[in-house]
Amino acid sequence: MSLSRKADRTGIEPVEGILRDVYSDIEAYYSERVARHGATPLGVDWSCWATQNLRFVQLLKICDFSAPFALNDIGCGYGALAAFLALRHGDAKIDYLGVDLSRAMVQRARRRFSSPDHRFVVAKSSPRIADYSVASGIMNVSLGHSRAVWEDFVATMLRQMRQTSRRGFSVNFISDATRAGSPATTLTDGLYRTMPQPWIGYCESQLGCSVEIMDGYGMREFTLLIRCNDTTAD
Ligand SMILES: C[S@@+](CC[C@H](N)C(=O)[O-])C[C@H]1O[C@@H](n2cnc3c(N)ncnc32)[C@H](O)[C@@H]1O
Repeated sequence: MSLSRKADRTGIEPVEGILRDVYSDIEAYYSERVARHGATPLGVDWSCWATQNLRFVQLLKICDFSAPFALNDIGCGYGALAAFLALRHGDAKIDYLGVDLSRAMVQRARRRFSSPDHRFVVAKSSPRIADYSVASGIMNVSLGHSRAVWEDFVATMLRQMRQTSRRGFSVNFISDATRAGSPATTLTDGLYRTMPQPWIGYCESQLGCSVEIMDGYGMREFTLLIRCNDTTAD
């Protein structure tokens, strides 16, 4: 994975050509999914509503619900997290921004939510800094790209979430249970699987964060809760 690319004056790194291909492949893949299956878990490549929501439960552990906060939902799809928040945290005051690079997804999300507290944009990273960011499922489907290219994408996503989160952010990964104890990662059947340690190390050493791991919630996945140790995003 590339750990040393240079940032420009804004602190956001230039998108290299190779990642442009990754973004356009993601856009094409998920736009086709939602066209075929509609605003349903299958439309964002999840098997069912229950596991989709279980992921949200884990990711939202980064948030302190006792006070109002702003939340970026990176890879928001058709807005399932916004619906989950309304259902499970209806009393919380949340300034929600959904971000997705698929225009087809964002159009569906906008059709479902029209309140000023729910905004959706077509983008590959958040245009604003929020208290927290979450991303569910954006690291999984590697679309035929090599492990090296995909890990560049993962690192870029983590860096951007760090730059646009004041307090913390959370992401999930498919776990590579077959390689317990190994720092290596594998790409098989088009899915990116990894052990937690390389990305915990990356967030701690490169992004200056502290990381808590959530696992053992009944899925072959894990969630990283990544807390920003300072306020450089302000
Ligand atoms: C597996 S789906 C999950 C959607 C939603 N998070 C959920 O759980 O219902 C992943 C979504 O992330 C989007 N995505 C992937 N990488 C992205 C990026 N860098 N920026 C914005 N959206 C991205 C895809 O277009 C797709 O809609």
